[in-house]
Amino acid sequence: MELKITDISKSFTSTTGERIEALRHISFTASEGRFICIIGPSGCGKTTLLRIISGLEPSGENGIMLGERELNSPTNEIGYIFQEPTLFPWRTLLKNVGFGLEIAGVEKHLRRQRAMAALELVELQDFGDFYPKEISGGMKQRVALAMALVVEPKVLLMDEPFASLDCQTRNHMQAALLRIWEKTGKTVIFVTHNVEEAAFLGDEIICLTSRPAQIKKVVKVPLSRPRDRTSPELNTIRKEILTFLEEERKAGRLSVGASD
Ligand SMILES: Nc1ncnc2c1ncn2[C@@H]1O[C@H](COP(=O)(O)OP(=O)(O)O)[C@@H](O)[C@H]1O
Ligand SMILES: [Mg+2]
Repeated sequence: MELKITDISKSFTSTTGERIEALRHISFTASEGRFICIIGPSGCGKTTLLRIISGLEPSGENGIMLGERELNSPTNEIGYIFQEPTLFPWRTLLKNVGFGLEIAGVEKHLRRQRAMAALELVELQDFGDFYPKEISGGMKQRVALAMALVVEPKVLLMDEPFASLDCQTRNHMQAALLRIWEKTGKTVIFVTHNVEEAAFLGDEIICLTSRPAQIKKVVKVPLSRPRDRTSPELNTIRKEILTFLEEERKAGRLSVGASD
C-alpha cells in the first residue's frame, strides 16, 4: 500500500524555551513494496520523522496517507522497529512475538501459530522457548522484527536498527532483512546514517540536511539484488551520497558523524 507524506514540518520547544525546528516541508511517496532509505546526520530529525509517520508524534495539519486513508494515530498497519530492541525479559521469544496479538485479542491457539510463523520468517523457529537474555544482539533485533511483522503491518519503519551491531552481524542482518522484505513485499522506510548500508539496501535513498531536516537529494539505486558491496556500481552510489554529505559539510550545514 502506498504511503504518502505531504509537507510535514515540526518544531519543539526545549526546556529552556528555545524553539527547535526539526523538520521542514518534508514530502515523499513510498509506493507499495518499495525499500526507501533515509540518510542524514545525527540530530537532524530522522527519528522525529518516523515518530510522526507512526502516529506517536502529532503531525500538525499536514498529512500522512496510507492508500486512501489519512493516518493520525498509531495503527497496526505501521510497524516500528527501534534502534535498541525492546523485548520483555520475562517472556520467552515466542511469547514476546505473540504480545501484539494478545493485545489485539487474538485467540491463544491462533496466536501461537502466527507467532511461530513470524519466528520462522526471521529464522528463529528453534529459539521460541529461549528468553531474551539468552540470545545475541542480532537475534534480539530479529525478534523485534518478528514482533513487528506478526500483526501484519503494511509498512515497516526501521530506525537505525543495526547501528549497535558489529560489522559482520550488521551485514548478515541486512541480507536477512532483504530476504524477509522480498518474501513479504512490505513497504520499508529504513533510517540510517551509514552510507554503505543505505546503498546496499535501498531502492532509493532520501538524503536529509542537518537540522532542520529538508530533503535535498533523492538517489535512485537501479541495481538488482543481491548486490555486491564491493562492486564499482555500488561504489558510484556511495560516492554520490558522500559527495552530497561533503557539500553539506562545506556549506557548514552538517554536524559530525554523518559519513561513517
Ligand atoms: N520531544 C522533544 N522535545 C524537544 N526536542 C526534541 C524532542 N524530540 C526531538 N527533539 C530534538 O529534535 C532534533 C531532532 O531529533 P531526532 O529526530 O531524534 O534526530 P535524529 O534521529 O536524526 O538523530 C534534536 O535536536 C532533538 O534534540
Ligand atoms: Mg534518531
